[in-house]
Amino acid sequence: MYSADAQSLFDTCATEYGADIGLVWKIRDSFIKYVARTADGRCSLSGGAKIEKSAGFFYPLKNEPISAPTGNTVELDFHGDVRFSAHRGMMFVRIGLPKLIVTGTRGQLWILADPADDTEFTLLAECDLELARDELQSLVGLAGRDVRLTEAGAEIFGLIYKPGDLLDDFSVSLRLTKT
Ligand code: HEM
Repeated sequence: MYSADAQSLFDTCATEYGADIGLVWKIRDSFIKYVARTADGRCSLSGGAKIEKSAGFFYPLKNEPISAPTGNTVELDFHGDVRFSAHRGMMFVRIGLPKLIVTGTRGQLWILADPADDTEFTLLAECDLELARDELQSLVGLAGRDVRLTEAGAEIFGLIYKPGDLLDDFSVSLRLTKT
């Protein structure tokens, strides 16, 4: 493990890679359990999002282009839309097309939250980032830790969670192919 750095991350992403790359995130375990135990609780996946076993939801990385770092910042965009509903639609939460903005060792997670708007991203959470590299398996992993809701993020959950409350850790994996 060593510190994430936008330039080295960009260099990594700019290398050719294969499939199975993206963001794996459970969002928040207690929220998933809440939806699951609500009688009409539903979770719908679209746009390439899928379930990654018990680890959470998988949002594939958009292939190209990954934006070049501006200063010490790089942006990773993901496909995939995950929507939760319950209580006859009165509870509706969309975590769509996540975007991770990496600035040094800090990350910002932006998402599409409004079910009727595919243009305006909301800053859901901010977190610490760690970069791990496994040369043998050609894997690079970026771990999001201490993922905390912003004010706008807390509103997405009906202010039942407060700004600063924790969401689950996440990971971003990049599978490199030798060139
Ligand atoms: C008719 C409307 C609603 C009813 C009857 C309702 C009911 C409940 C109940 C009973 C719980 C506690 C569940 C448990 O601990 O087993 C809960 C938790 C929660 N609800 Fe709702 N809810 C409603 C609407 C909403 C809305 C509009 C939102 C947000 C958009 C929301 C988000 C949450 C969240 C985030 C939790 C906490 C889950 C956790 O982490 O444990 N709910 N709700």
